[in-house]
Amino acid sequence: MFTTPIDETYLLTSNDLLNPFDYTAIFGRTCPVEIEIGVGKGRFLLDEAVRRPDTGFLGIERVRKYLRMTHLRLNELGCENVRLICEDAGYVIRQLVVDNSIAAYHVYFPDPWPKRKHHKRRIIQPDFVRHLYRTLIPSGVLRICTDHEQYAHHIDLAVKSLPEWEEVRTWSEMARTEESSTATHFEVKYSREKRMVYWTECCCPNEKPIR
Ligand SMILES: C[S@@+](CC[C@H](N)C(=O)[O-])C[C@H]1O[C@@H](n2cnc3c(N)ncnc32)[C@H](O)[C@@H]1O
Repeated sequence: MFTTPIDETYLLTSNDLLNPFDYTAIFGRTCPVEIEIGVGKGRFLLDEAVRRPDTGFLGIERVRKYLRMTHLRLNELGCENVRLICEDAGYVIRQLVVDNSIAAYHVYFPDPWPKRKHHKRRIIQPDFVRHLYRTLIPSGVLRICTDHEQYAHHIDLAVKSLPEWEEVRTWSEMARTEESSTATHFEVKYSREKRMVYWTECCCPNEKPIR
């Protein structure tokens, strides 16, 4: 099937995805690094990157169509602190993200896979949570939200399967509108439908042992 190539200005190429990440080489400087998993059309990632230019943002999205949309807007903005990755986040986090290197993970509205026979496809699983924890810096934060109440319960069990977190906070609130600079595309969409959003925030201890 013919697929239009994505402009590669801000895209990590397949060569960049062969070895564990060297963030200084990726961003051309040393900076705190945050990762968004499943960036969709990139609303949150780009708003945050503009708001916090001193932080490097890696956006992972496996669907090329969405990644291309994000890249187009990124070209207009010319944000030097963003790099995009068109890959499965499971592979990227497990194989390429080094220990104690990420200041925050953002996982907003991951696909809920509501049918029981598809639950194993959900990205938030105990093993994946262990890799997120492994790669977070001391005091690093994992933020997840979903509008799907049963997936929220599944997320709660998955994150709490790891006893090492300093703190796990959960709360629910009405989806925020576009007036909130940090609302994702899905959150803005759900705010019109007045849906509840279930949030989970996990913090690593300050004294997280560095291996
Ligand atoms: C429901 S959308 C949410 C998009 C965005 N976070 C938002 O809130 O507007 C979920 C996104 O995650 C992406 N995704 C799902 N599983 C993924 C994976 N394993 N690796 C990378 N991206 C993934 C999907 O392609 C989709 O764009």
